[in-house]
Amino acid sequence: MLIDTHCHLDFQGFDRDRDDAIERSRSEGIGFMINVGSSLAGTRDSIELAEKNDFIFAAAGIHPHEADTVKEEDLKAFEGYLGSDKVVAIGEIGLDYYKNISSKDNQKMLFIRLLNEAKARGLPLIIHNRDAHRDTMAILKDVMGSSIRGVMHCFSGDEEFLKDCLDLGMFISFTCNLTFKNAGRLRDIARLVPMDRFFLETDAPFLAPQIFRGKRNEPAYIKYLAEEVARIKGLSFEEIEKITTENAKKLFNLARIPPSVKAGMKAASGRGTGS
Ligand code: NI
Repeated sequence: MLIDTHCHLDFQGFDRDRDDAIERSRSEGIGFMINVGSSLAGTRDSIELAEKNDFIFAAAGIHPHEADTVKEEDLKAFEGYLGSDKVVAIGEIGLDYYKNISSKDNQKMLFIRLLNEAKARGLPLIIHNRDAHRDTMAILKDVMGSSIRGVMHCFSGDEEFLKDCLDLGMFISFTCNLTFKNAGRLRDIARLVPMDRFFLETDAPFLAPQIFRGKRNEPAYIKYLAEEVARIKGLSFEEIEKITTENAKKLFNLARIPPSVKAGMKAASGRGTGS
């Protein structure tokens, strides 16, 4: 069983075949998916999807792109969503200085506010960082301290940033862009990540693997990423599957899943879960 730790099935790209995409993920052996909210509406839709599907969980987040337009009343509404049992993390939140859709000051303010929300509720983090390594690290340490329960999503930093993340105890996540022909440098970074910190994600609908490059990505394609990681690490597909699944279960505390959900999974997968 694989876990897609980061997808956006709530996005428009899935409007025509959302249920089919979910079903394909299940039949491809995906045990859990975390649908990641990137706006107030996205968080609401992620929770709705999670409530309808036993094997989907939600992360509640507001993307830095939203920072200029998010209002105080939105943040109040956002806090209201955090009570849902299916919310397993705060994210994606962070800083994006690549697109700079919102001002840096507003991005930082929003990031700090949402980190404090995670801290108050003891929820792990899914962090988005693009071209903002220094500020992301400074804010993370300032608000959360020297040990962080979280994952750096779609890792795009250098060796130094990787070391900083690992020193804080963070997990490091790679998307299917690791399979791109020209991703040699990213594969070099992936080689440096210890397996007990390694996460897999699709970030679907974005970043389809090399064989579908330019098309829509979907959670079922995570197997292509797992195959690539197996090659990079010199491990079997089964080992990658087992280790990354354990990592994700640990961070998102998926062991707390109610028995009814486990029973549902067992029936759906047609094999025992060993619990
Ligand atoms: Ni994302």
